[in-house]
Amino acid sequence: MIRSLRGRLFAGLTAVILLTGIAGGLFAHRWAFNEAIEMQDSVLIQIAGLVQGGSFTGGRELHGVDEDAEVWLIDQAATPHSSDDELKLWTLKDGLALATRKGQPIRVLLRTRADGSRFAVAQRTSVRDEIASDMAFRTVLPIAALVPCLLLVTAIVIARSLRPMVRLADDLDRRRADDMTPLPPMQMPSELHPFIASINGLLQRVRLLMDQQRRFVADAAHELRTPITALSLQAENLDPVDLPVAARDRLAALRQGIRRSRHLLDQLLALARYDAGAPETALPIVELDSVAKEVVADALPEAVNRGADLGFTRVEQTVVRGEAVMLAAVVRNLLDNALRFSPRGGRIDVWVYGDGDKAILRIEDAGPGVSSDEIGRIFEPFFRGQRPEGDGVGLGLSIVKRIVDRLGGSIEAANIAESGRTGLRVLVRLPAAAA
Ligand SMILES: Nc1ncnc2c1ncn2[C@@H]1O[C@H](COP(=O)(O)OP(=O)(O)OP(=O)(O)O)[C@@H](O)[C@H]1O
Ligand SMILES: [Mg+2]
Repeated sequence: MIRSLRGRLFAGLTAVILLTGIAGGLFAHRWAFNEAIEMQDSVLIQIAGLVQGGSFTGGRELHGVDEDAEVWLIDQAATPHSSDDELKLWTLKDGLALATRKGQPIRVLLRTRADGSRFAVAQRTSVRDEIASDMAFRTVLPIAALVPCLLLVTAIVIARSLRPMVRLADDLDRRRADDMTPLPPMQMPSELHPFIASINGLLQRVRLLMDQQRRFVADAAHELRTPITALSLQAENLDPVDLPVAARDRLAALRQGIRRSRHLLDQLLALARYDAGAPETALPIVELDSVAKEVVADALPEAVNRGADLGFTRVEQTVVRGEAVMLAAVVRNLLDNALRFSPRGGRIDVWVYGDGDKAILRIEDAGPGVSSDEIGRIFEPFFRGQRPEGDGVGLGLSIVKRIVDRLGGSIEAANIAESGRTGLRVLVRLPAAAA
């Protein structure tokens, strides 16, 4: 059983073409052979007519009336020393007959002249058959040549007809997992339209499902914020209370736990809010450098706290299309990682500048970097690697990636490979907007 549609079509059509070709060839061969035999009979009749009319006279055996066809004229009067074959020949009645001459089968036409003398026009059967075969072969030749041509054309037509399907499959294969834009039915053959409509229906249902899921995560995170805030307030209220040392330690752990939960909720909300979708086009123009300056300023106390040397290496006016909160989330999450993974006294450098039609945000830290087997996964949601640091939940880089995707940009992370230095370099490229 052939699974491929192309294989099945080709096998079926090949069988039909070959069968038709063979049957047609056999029929044509047979027909042409018979036709040729009849034609040679009519030649004998014509020659006999000429002989009877007196064009050939004399009692001799004519050889080569027709050179190729080897036709003989045998006159009864000219063959007195008759052999058995010839005696037998003259016993036949006038007309076409099969006979033998010198041991070989021949086709003869016997006639009687007005004066009563008889003659025969003869031709060797083997010669006749050879000529007929030759003609029949020439009739079959075009059919034999046509079959391979037809097979070739069939193969080409099948391949061309199935090309839209291959293209469709390629298109689907190359898509990002979250790309739910419908397939265009326009340039496709009409037979594929129902199939495309079904796939588009499926894509729409999946998108709906993803939307629902996203909304559920957002709603759940949002709902959980109120009780967490309440818990946080309660913990704060315990602060001024005179507590034994052991209880104060527990309280610190409790507040740390509450902070972590809040952070998780904030990250989940951000992830749900910036869930992947088609790149946005109608967005306001934002100054990336201003946003970065604000976020860096906000992070300075934390940097001082951790003894990190945070600052700009290069900052130029650069505008992109986006929302300030989205861009701030990108810078904040990247800085947050850099701060968390940098050792005391480590440098964190920030660049913001334009490069052709791209706006570049680059952040380098002095941390350990990411091991080579983990670096390909750091943009996955909830991925935290082998040595998770601090209160992270593993969503920061997924949020960054989704925002960058939505803004039509790209992001790369690479370990800094310079002698005497370690750290992670994150490079974000966004389409620069015309100022
Ligand atoms: N600057 C960095 N240096 C070293 N490792 C990093 C750095 N940035 C990210 N990573 C690695 O990538 C993982 C994923 O980072 P991501 O920002 O997504 O999550 P997180 O920081 O753990 O949590 P969150 O950002 O949600 O608080 C981190 O847990 C860490 O292992
Ligand atoms: Mg992070």
